[in-house]
Parts: sequence; C-alpha cells; structure tokens
Amino acid sequence: MSKHIIPHSYQVSKANRIQSNQHNSFLIWFTGLSGSGKSTIANLVEKKLFENGVKTYSLDGDNIRTGINKDLSFAPEHRTENIRRIAEVSNLMIDAGLVVLAAFVSPYKKDRQNIRTIVKDVNFVEVYINTSVEECERRDVKGLYKKARAGEIKNMTGISAPYEAPENPDIEIKTENESIEDSVQKIVDFITPKLQLNNE
Ligand code: ADX
Repeated sequence: MSKHIIPHSYQVSKANRIQSNQHNSFLIWFTGLSGSGKSTIANLVEKKLFENGVKTYSLDGDNIRTGINKDLSFAPEHRTENIRRIAEVSNLMIDAGLVVLAAFVSPYKKDRQNIRTIVKDVNFVEVYINTSVEECERRDVKGLYKKARAGEIKNMTGISAPYEAPENPDIEIKTENESIEDSVQKIVDFITPKLQLNNE
C-alpha cells in the first residue's frame, strides 16, 4: 500500500450501522462444485433472512464475473484474483452493515484462507455444499460438464481442474442426503445467534 494513502475517519461507523440495522454483519461463504446447489441454497437462506428484516446482499458468478471480474478466466491465478476481489467487496459490504451471501466454487484452500484473513475470522462463515462430482455431472444444469468431457471447456473444476474440499467447514451440506428445506434451516439456525447484537 502506498504510504501516501491516509484513511479518512468517517462520522458514520460500522458500529452505528449495525446498531441501526439491529443485527451484526458478516459473510456467509458457499463453496462447492459447479452445479452443487450453492446459489440455490444461498438464495433461499437470503430470502428467509430478508423476510426477518435482515439487511442482505448476494454475490455470485452472474453479478461478479460479468461485471467487476469480467477480465478474469478460470486459470488458477485468475480464480485466486477472482476470490480476492470478492473478499474485498464483501469486506466493504460487511462494513456497510450487511449480511453477505457469496456463492463461488472457490476450489483452492489457500484462496478461502485468504478470504478469512481479509474479512477476519469472526466475520466468516464457511458453508461447504458437498455434492459429488458424479451427481453434479448427472444434474449438469448448465451443460458445462458435457462440454468439459468433450474438451470444449478446459480447467473444469472436478473434471480437469482440482477442487480442494474444506476440512473443517462451519457447516457441511450433503445435498444428496438432505432436503433443501433442512439444509436452509440448518444454515439459518447456525447464523441466528451470530446476528444478535451483544449490547442488549
Ligand atoms: S471460481 O473457481 O473462480 O470460484 P466461480 O464461482 O467464479 O469460480 O465461477 C464458477 C462458475 O462459472 C460455474 O458455476 C460455472 O457456471 C462457470 N464455469 C465456466 N467455466 C468453468 C470452469 N472451467 N470451471 C468451473 N466453473 C466454470
């Protein structure tokens, strides 16, 4: 960082914002293979939170890789940069008082560790959407696995690029064994105490 950048001190602080919202702000990070169900589950969690008056925002490939990160590919170093920028954007949103839901493949452990460093451990909830590659390929919602098998997509996570599963996620969802309603409820139950302000 340049030594000529001197942060300005603002009159409205994060503490003011979370007090006004009446809940804490943090990041719920969904990791898993393409087609594992990350966005579907994240969307339903957001809906429940929103209905309960929680200020939320969702980040996923559609609003990130077509906008701020449209210059990035799926090469390993670009995925790393993709995740770094998303973590920085999330960090601003946490400062803005929001509960951020981010659904990205994020296949590398070191990149997910970097998110934790950027937003701080206490603000990071890692949700591993554990769906086997066989099942994702069977679902093939976007037709990408078929293209990857045909060699039309290089670096496809789970086929021709690695996925490093989290060893100790806060929440693990096995979509092949549990219903979507149960999965959503499990996540909502985990984060509900984290939302509470502890000054009451
Ligand atoms: S990440 O690896 O950098 O975290 P990100 O979540 O942004 O990936 O984007 C993944 C989405 O892009 C997938 O859900 C899929 O729709 C699409 N995609 C296109 N090419 C690939 C690829 N080679 N590997 C994984 N996903 C891909």
